[in-house]
Amino acid sequence: MREISLKVAATSRILIESGLSRALSGAFAGREAFTAAAAFVVTDENVSPLYLDRVAAGLQSMGWRVASRTLPPGEQTKSFDSLLTLYKDFFDQKLDRSSIVVALGGGVIGDLTGFAAATYMRGTRLLQVPTTLLAQVDAAIGGKVAVNHLGIKNSIGTFYQPELVIIDPEVLSTLPGSELPNGFAEISKAALVADKDLFEILEKDDSLPALPGHEMLEEIIYRAVAVKVNVVQQDERESGRRRVLNFGHTIGHALEESSAFEGLSHGEAVAVGMVLETRLARLLKVTDAQLADRIEALLARLGFKVHLHGASPEDIARLTYLDKKAKGSRLVFALPVKLGSVEVFEDVDPAALRRVLEEAAS
Ligand SMILES: NC(=O)c1ccc[n+]([C@@H]2O[C@H](COP(=O)([O-])OP(=O)(O)OC[C@H]3O[C@@H](n4cnc5c(N)ncnc54)[C@H](O)[C@@H]3O)[C@@H](O)[C@H]2O)c1
Ligand SMILES: [Zn+2]
Repeated sequence: MREISLKVAATSRILIESGLSRALSGAFAGREAFTAAAAFVVTDENVSPLYLDRVAAGLQSMGWRVASRTLPPGEQTKSFDSLLTLYKDFFDQKLDRSSIVVALGGGVIGDLTGFAAATYMRGTRLLQVPTTLLAQVDAAIGGKVAVNHLGIKNSIGTFYQPELVIIDPEVLSTLPGSELPNGFAEISKAALVADKDLFEILEKDDSLPALPGHEMLEEIIYRAVAVKVNVVQQDERESGRRRVLNFGHTIGHALEESSAFEGLSHGEAVAVGMVLETRLARLLKVTDAQLADRIEALLARLGFKVHLHGASPEDIARLTYLDKKAKGSRLVFALPVKLGSVEVFEDVDPAALRRVLEEAAS
């Protein structure tokens, strides 16, 4: 027998810097590897009038030809229809594998554009410019890209690391206030997964989620990004350690999928998921009462209300079993064990889940 191993690894640079145009030209300056003939920016109708010109100017200053597509905002844009629109644009613009595709927007634009970039000609170069807090701390980091299909969220997707991520905290100044808790749900998750100090920063700061211009904002973003980078580096494809990032997401995804939660944002679903999964952890005696109370108190202060919106516990339980990450008929949960530490538990007792859901519904 002969054996040869092929190991490949991509590196993503993640820059946190204010001033989009400057950050863009600065990121590429003097880097031969980054030269491209053409760039294509994908954005949505809310973000386009605010930031497209700046991003295009930054790219044009490198001498690149820049074209763009502006799509309607909202989750329904993460679809095969949008994907077909983008592939046609890419062909029309004669993009090739050396071209740069730029996702300028929230997680919807990031996931969709990332999937288009990953699949067009087996992969063009991808640049993520996340403009929501949620996308800056979570969606744009780690390479998960997808579209929704047949009513199932993220059911068609892949892993594709961006060459560069540019995080400009200043763009959050135009983000509707109602979007901020979404980001804070994922930031709280990051804190619980691996950054005790971040949890304490959030816990002590009564002004949150008041933004923008918050003096700790860059530090908070940096810490949340660092948690994700660290976990993804250990397990890019989610076969082991990365599963801790699913804390709050097993029940959260079930809530998002349940029709009763139409219009529920990802962050809200995850926050409710974190509270219910923490209650589950308490019931299973893997989390103590004090930590469970602190988690619930923080999420309540960040504005999250725990209820099932009339969805039945049976539906949520059923959808939890259908979660992509469930193993066969076994219930797998990432649960907090102590502050700044989450562990994966396989074979969780379905009766315990049922009890937590029934209590939340009553
Ligand atoms: N790939 C991943 O790892 C990952 C992780 C978490 C979430 N997600 C996905 O992310 C999506 C949610 O992302 P989101 O919360 O960013 O939502 P979003 O992309 O829908 O953006 C929210 C709203 O804010 C607007 N907006 C964005 N930036 C703005 C700005 N700076 N100023 C004014 N308006 C702005 C958008 O137009 C939109 O209306 C979901 O589809 C979810 O599945 C992916
Ligand atoms: Zn999430």
